[in-house]
Amino acid sequence: MKTLIIYKSIHHGNTEKIAKAIADTFNATIKKPSEVGHSDIQDYDLIGFGSGIYFSKHHKRILELVELLPDNMKKKAFLFSTHGVSRKAGKKCHKALMQLLRDKGFKVVGEFNCRGYDSYGPLKLIGGISKNHPDRQDLEDAKRFAEELAKDYE
Ligand SMILES: Cc1cc2nc3c(=O)[nH]c(=O)nc-3n(C[C@H](O)[C@H](O)[C@H](O)COP(=O)(O)O)c2cc1C
Repeated sequence: MKTLIIYKSIHHGNTEKIAKAIADTFNATIKKPSEVGHSDIQDYDLIGFGSGIYFSKHHKRILELVELLPDNMKKKAFLFSTHGVSRKAGKKCHKALMQLLRDKGFKVVGEFNCRGYDSYGPLKLIGGISKNHPDRQDLEDAKRFAEELAKDYE
């Protein structure tokens, strides 16, 4: 299973840690949106898309990249994110990217999200929220997510 991970991590590098943990498990190629063309994506069987959550959505470079892909991709995909809020609330922020991937013909086979240190705007005044995340447990959870997904394709 040739796997490509595309991620954007702009705030504290939180999502980069998750992207690397998932990529290690899959032995995947890991890239930023600016390094990926349509034809690159065609070379892979499974593509993971991830970023921090900014204003309740994935980073706009990730959304734009998917928007510009041809229809009928017929590839497997998963999505992941880190966010300041709880896991349950953060998962709701996957909606836009999830819909976009499905609209483009991807089969979405999994999603992962966890907390990431958030010191945006006024949160800075209180030292931020979700401090020390992703923590060791979050990274283990991300690895376990990737292992479970990889098992389906052994
Ligand atoms: C401009 C901006 C907007 C954000 N909006 C949200 C949000 O809507 N919901 C949320 O839970 N976290 C929000 N956050 C917090 C980030 O999602 C969180 O810190 C995440 O782990 C950042 O990932 P990164 O370090 O990979 O960029 C926001 C952060 C920034 C900088």
